[in-house]
Amino acid sequence: MLEMNCVQPNEAVCKHLTVLKSKDVLTYEHSLRVGQIAIYLADHLQFSELEQSRLVSGCYLHDIGKLYVPDEILNKPGSLNDDEWEMMKLHTVQGAQMLRSDGAMDLEIVNTAAYHHERWNGEGYPYGMQGDAIPELARFCSVIDSLDCMLSDRPYRKGMQLYEAKRELLLQSGEQFDTYVVNAVLSLPDECLKISNSALKYY
Ligand SMILES: [Fe+2]
Repeated sequence: MLEMNCVQPNEAVCKHLTVLKSKDVLTYEHSLRVGQIAIYLADHLQFSELEQSRLVSGCYLHDIGKLYVPDEILNKPGSLNDDEWEMMKLHTVQGAQMLRSDGAMDLEIVNTAAYHHERWNGEGYPYGMQGDAIPELARFCSVIDSLDCMLSDRPYRKGMQLYEAKRELLLQSGEQFDTYVVNAVLSLPDECLKISNSALKYY
């Protein structure tokens, strides 16, 4: 296993993660795994220290807006109805608003929360942005987030095998996802893509 602790979340990120843990442990653990994959990816791509910190912090906080999603929607075992889905989608806007109100939060981190569900082909939410118009770090987070979601067990379904999730990323390359980012993520070793909760450091 590679070194796990090359980037530690700063105090502001830890503070938000701690609040998220008290709201929803599954989203909290997902956020830690997405942040950990981002650490590996930023290291692999030789990001500068600043870019690494922005990507990792943005990935740790991408779903922070789920603090505002009612528990009965967040934890609903079946599929969401139209109204519930609209409320769920708002976690992007609400997360960005929350991080923006923390005056010291870097804009790239705010943007990652706002735009991580946008899709390369314009079919994402909340704004339907397309291609390069989507901030780059949000495009990175989108792929990592989707990978971890596909690999994770849910109460109503078992997570995919890693080879199946990789195949799905390739299928969506140039559609849902930026091809450059998919290729970068898939160039990481398997042990950096499927993160076990037992390997996480909790905050
Ligand atoms: Fe999200």
